[in-house]
Amino acid sequence: MNVSFSPTICEEFLKHLDSKSGYEILRQAAENMGVPSLEENACTAVTNIVSIKQPAKSIDIGCGIGVSSMAVLKGFPATHLTAVDGNLERGLFFQNYFKDYKNVTYYQMRGEQFLKTTDEKYDFAFIDTVKREYSSIWQLLKPRLNKNACVIFDDILIYGYVMCMECETPYKYQSNRREVLNFINEIFEDETLNAQIIPVNGGLLSISLK
Ligand SMILES: C[S@@+](CC[C@H](N)C(=O)[O-])C[C@H]1O[C@@H](n2cnc3c(N)ncnc32)[C@H](O)[C@@H]1O
Repeated sequence: MNVSFSPTICEEFLKHLDSKSGYEILRQAAENMGVPSLEENACTAVTNIVSIKQPAKSIDIGCGIGVSSMAVLKGFPATHLTAVDGNLERGLFFQNYFKDYKNVTYYQMRGEQFLKTTDEKYDFAFIDTVKREYSSIWQLLKPRLNKNACVIFDDILIYGYVMCMECETPYKYQSNRREVLNFINEIFEDETLNAQIIPVNGGLLSISLK
């Protein structure tokens, strides 16, 4: 397997389809600023899941400049969205871009800190922080979820290395791979959850509470 490519086997095909997704402005802004943002096909997957789910309350942890938040809002514009990111510069951009959205609240802080202090409960969560923090974020997030909530963790395949042996993985990704793999196993072994990996872009781990 060539792990330098995304696991989405049809990615090249999808790239050539004429996209009218409407994420271009924000994704272009992210590129100009040199900051990471959710890839287009993953945006569409999030939008579609949210549009089916119609969550009253949503949370986007690691919202960056807001591409993933836009994906959530496109899916269900009436959702009350809490967006959290630890980065000051991205936060300033986010707050300016979404200033007219009365249903969007931004917190410039670490997701873990936010989850420890909030008493809100959510119907949908999108998580796109440092991958090795996924397990600790999940432990804090789980009690903050409403019945039938849905959660998506982004980039769960670590460039495809979670599907490789440790000895096939470059040293710099080995500890990340191990921690994310442990997290994936923890989720799939939990009988209170429905879990699925959706292989778009870097891989989305989709979880719903039974
Ligand atoms: C891949 S970028 C997110 C891109 C964003 N979801 C988008 O689509 O525009 C990851 C973001 O997570 C933030 N981050 C990383 N660890 C975090 C944490 N523990 N709590 C909050 N934000 C975190 C970083 O500051 C960064 O902006």
